[in-house]
Order: sequence, then C-alpha cells, then structure tokens
Amino acid sequence: MSTNTVDDKRKVTTMRLTEMKARGEKIAMLTAYDYSMAKLIDEAGMDVILVGDSASNVMAGNITTLPITLDQMIYHAKSVIKGVRRALVVCDMPFGTYQGNSKEALASAIRIMKESHAEAVKMEGGAEIRESIERILCAGIPVMGHLGLTPQSINKFGTYAVRAKEEAEAEKLLADAHLLEEIGCFAIVLEKIPAALAARVASELTIPVIGIGAGGGVDGQVLVMHDMLGINQGFSPKFLRRYADLSTVINSAVSRYIDDVKTADFPNASEQY
Ligand code: KIV
Repeated sequence: MSTNTVDDKRKVTTMRLTEMKARGEKIAMLTAYDYSMAKLIDEAGMDVILVGDSASNVMAGNITTLPITLDQMIYHAKSVIKGVRRALVVCDMPFGTYQGNSKEALASAIRIMKESHAEAVKMEGGAEIRESIERILCAGIPVMGHLGLTPQSINKFGTYAVRAKEEAEAEKLLADAHLLEEIGCFAIVLEKIPAALAARVASELTIPVIGIGAGGGVDGQVLVMHDMLGINQGFSPKFLRRYADLSTVINSAVSRYIDDVKTADFPNASEQY
C-alpha cells in the first residue's frame, strides 16, 4: 500500500512542474522502462517518470548508454506509457539521433511522440545542440535539458567523475542552463556536479532543476530505478540512497522456487487441477 504524501491525483504536466517549483514543492522523478514497474511507480505517486537511455545499461546490459537505438527507446516508452495515469512521462533521445543535424533531431523527436505517446523528450547538452532543441520546441514538443555529467559523451570525458568542479566548466554550465531556459526548455536535469553550483543554477532559473548527485539545493531529484531498488548491486556512488535490497529478495525467492521444484514440493495438491 502506498504511504506517500501525494494527495493530488491530477495529471502532471510541464506547467504543473513550474508551479511546483514556484511554491517550493520538490519534484520526485524516477526511471522506468516497462509497463509493470511504471504502473507501480505511478501508483505510488511519482511526479515524473523518465524512460532513460540508462535502459541501455540496466535493461540491455550494455556498458554505456551509447548503443541503445531509437526503436528500442520507443519500445520502452510505449510500454511505460500504458502503465501511467498521473506522472509526466519523459523519454530520452538516444545518442546519435539529435546531435548532428536539427532536421534529423526533429524527425527523431516526432517518432518518439507519435509512436510511444511520451509527453516530452530529454536531450544531453547545451549550446552545441541549441539548433536541434529549438527545432523540436518549435514543433510543440516539450524538451527537458540535461547538463553536467552527460553519459552520452563518456568517450569525450573518459570518466564518470564529478563534472564542473573547475571554474571554466562551471561558468559554461551556468551559461548553458540559462540558454536552455531562454530557448524554452521546461526543466533541466543536472547530473553529478557540486551541490553549490547546482543550488546556484536552481536559484537563478524559474524552470525546475532536477538533480542526480547534485545535492539538495535543487527543485527535485531523479534516480535510476534499478539502483535505488537495489536490483543493480554493482553501482554504489556516494549520491545513491538504496530504498530496497531487491537483488537479495529476488535471489532468495528464486532459490526457494528452485528447491521446491527439485524436491517436488511444488506444486502441491492445492496447486493443481
Ligand atoms: O538515462 C537516465 O536514466 C538518465 C538519468 C540518470 C537522469 O538520464
């Protein structure tokens, strides 16, 4: 049974997120990639569900987010949408579908919206992808920005370490955040940057700033579902809080099932026709 404090059953929209920021209400965001988990997460009262390209890691077993395709993201988003009634569903644009050419970027975003029925897209980067973001926004598609650690650029950075610790990178991030607000993004994710810088960005912008490893001075938080539920045991960054230990729960349940089958304890007389 849900024990959360969310009473408002109204559908979450991009406009409602701005209102939440204005009245100081924190925004809760979590990833999901399939119908069943999305339904549980939505019923618990999540504000935003992100169909993250982290699906490449946690669903497909890839080392980076780069290999996931547009078709695969659309498949995940389509499944998530069917389980969601209240949360705003945002779908990541995968690597290679928006960086090079703004017409291709628009075509990719249109495919996501038409085929999956997601309600917004998320894109990694600032000034470098301005043209693509603007073209997508012109088509009436809401865009969430993503600055700081941008996993699609892992081959450029060579590490998943904290970003924007040096002044020059912090200044660029601040300028990019203002640019994304000016051109019309409805929110920004800040990943793995110093808490003081993230708090400054959140205080200077009127659009919501959602953090992951960016401290508590922002307008909301996002985590990857597999990490916070303890399904994915191999990933323990400082910023991660684990709310469950599902890998132990699942291992124990599956082991008991195997034992019951091997010992012919399952099925028993009441479990057959
Ligand atoms: O793909 C993802 O899960 C993300 C979050 C880490 C913000 O982009």
